[in-house]
Amino acid sequence: MDDVFANEAPPLRLRRLRDAVQELVSQRRAMPEVREGVGERAEPAESAEEIPAVDGGTGRQVNREFGGSVHGREFGNIAEAKMTIGTRSVLYGAHCAVLHPWFLAVAWSKLYGFPWDVRLWASFCLHDIGYISKPNMDGCEGETHVELGARIMGLLFGESWAAFTAAHSRYWAKHNGRQFSRLCVADKLAFVLTPAWLYLPMTRATGELSEYMLRAKERQAGSEHFTDYESARLNSADPREWLEGLKSYTRRWIEEHRNGGADNWTVAACAESTAAFR
Ligand SMILES: [Fe+2]
Ligand SMILES: [Fe+2]
Repeated sequence: MDDVFANEAPPLRLRRLRDAVQELVSQRRAMPEVREGVGERAEPAESAEEIPAVDGGTGRQVNREFGGSVHGREFGNIAEAKMTIGTRSVLYGAHCAVLHPWFLAVAWSKLYGFPWDVRLWASFCLHDIGYISKPNMDGCEGETHVELGARIMGLLFGESWAAFTAAHSRYWAKHNGRQFSRLCVADKLAFVLTPAWLYLPMTRATGELSEYMLRAKERQAGSEHFTDYESARLNSADPREWLEGLKSYTRRWIEEHRNGGADNWTVAACAESTAAFR
């Protein structure tokens, strides 16, 4: 891949990398303390209204979910309430920073051979980092999660690696008139490879699961690329059945697109995505 920053002085690159990191930090600080409920289809149970306020006097509260005293859990609950769903996803959800890159590496190996290039490993680790601070996963804000990782990859390895990383989202790629990258295909296979016993508890814990289930149903309703089996499964209220349907569809999407080509299955969903990293 060409490196358009090849002639750029290292100090300048470092300064731009530092600016990108500072932007992430300031973005995180700028977020209202609780954004769930603002984002589309965020978990209602985790909205600000449903998080018990701290009673500084007694320290006693009732946890509505478990019905017991949460004296020892107050701090954790409040800390969780201050994290957006995107941050939780990167910490312990579908995009968990210590698990997802490994599934992606296995997926890449299966599709394209072992990823010997260290820049691929960097993209595995950075591509979803932009979910941090996002108030939703698949809404307009969530769709732009590709941009932070792409910016960092660009500063480290050049513009083409930025484009490669940004195009890991087929929705972002579609919306911006870009070709999805191999990272996108591997990312889809990483999802398929993640076992249900791991995926479901994690996405339930972060609040992602309900958003994903709803969004997948909506997308299925507007597309003719789902089989009857997949449609039936996606409309199930049982998360395990829903996941089977989505994995079946995703497996077929991978087979159809693993070698590139036009993606006629995906419909751009958000009107506010940006067209950086061209
Ligand atoms: Fe992503
Ligand atoms: Fe990913």
